[in-house]
Amino acid sequence: MNYIGSKFSLLPFLERHITEFSRPDSGWTFFDIFSGTGIVGRHFKKLGFRIVANDIQYYSYCLNRAYIGINRQPEFGSIVENLPRPADLQPYEAVDTVLDHLNRLDGVEGFIYRNYCPGGTAGKAFPRQYFTDDNGKLCDAIRLQIEDWHRDALISDDEYFYLLASLIEAIDKVANTASVYGAFLKHVKPSARKPLRLERLEIIPDNRLHRVYNCDGGELASKVQCDILYVDPPYNQRQYCTNYHVLETIAKYDNPELYGVTGLRDYNHQKSDFCHQAKALQSLEKLIQETQAKYVFLSYNSEGLMREDEIMTVMRQYGEVDLKKEDYRRFRADIDRENRRYKTDSVTEYLFCLKKAG
Ligand SMILES: C[S@@+](CC[C@H](N)C(=O)[O-])C[C@H]1O[C@@H](n2cnc3c(N)ncnc32)[C@H](O)[C@@H]1O
Repeated sequence: MNYIGSKFSLLPFLERHITEFSRPDSGWTFFDIFSGTGIVGRHFKKLGFRIVANDIQYYSYCLNRAYIGINRQPEFGSIVENLPRPADLQPYEAVDTVLDHLNRLDGVEGFIYRNYCPGGTAGKAFPRQYFTDDNGKLCDAIRLQIEDWHRDALISDDEYFYLLASLIEAIDKVANTASVYGAFLKHVKPSARKPLRLERLEIIPDNRLHRVYNCDGGELASKVQCDILYVDPPYNQRQYCTNYHVLETIAKYDNPELYGVTGLRDYNHQKSDFCHQAKALQSLEKLIQETQAKYVFLSYNSEGLMREDEIMTVMRQYGEVDLKKEDYRRFRADIDRENRRYKTDSVTEYLFCLKKAG
């Protein structure tokens, strides 16, 4: 998923410096406290760590609950026998049958269609075009079916979150936005015209138990037993709750009251202190103070609200510190690409490494 601050391209940089600095033992616990897409936790799960993942956003919880929390492709034993076996899928597994069934559902004029599609919002105070009518209706049909199966205990929690994660990934691919949901595009971009299609998730086979939370990281830090705390907070004023509000609503499907041109939901309880100049450094220090981890790694960049020297000063109070840097291409929304503003646009990515004293 194309996510603000995703560390997908920085995984080799993170792996190299985190393992060199901490020299981990097998069986160590890696706590990804601001986990977003879950890509960092997935990488360290593959390396053999026990993972604890957390994020304040529920769509992120769903992604992490699936990618981190599940250790094998689900079997959907209670529903698969009653679904038509897809003729064109060779070889197929139960999961393919379930995804194929969901992909072929008839659309429903549900919450997403009625609030985020041109057909459902035509003539209303705020017409919106986040998805084509067909994709909005199919999204509603799929989301309702997943909920019904879970409510009727026909799918397990693992199966439920697997399907929700697949839906979140799929709907994001056909969103008519410049990557984030702070606005929708006036014209329908080519990728948004494609049909919504659920796909298999890449599940990392494992026998360990991994844990996933949906909490404010500041409240969780002291409670989680871990060896490494990995901190990848928001870098600037852009709140994730407003930039990904539509994914939050699809994940929760809780019929929220919406307001404004973009159909925002209430997000007051999800605002991050890391998006406030006056609160970010204090929040970081609290995490470092309270964590049970011996090693703390902070991802940040040269344009963030906290300055490099301020972070170093805070960290040095707690132990031995090192700073690694790498030049990195800035996150770009599709609209920028479409406008062809291709000037070299890199920013320095930081990894602050702390070995806590005592
Ligand atoms: C830079 S992104 C993390 C990106 C992630 N490492 C990845 O590669 O996908 C920051 C994340 O912090 C989350 N966040 C912000 N404030 C939080 C808080 N107080 N507690 C938990 N999560 C928070 C946001 O929802 C967002 O997903």
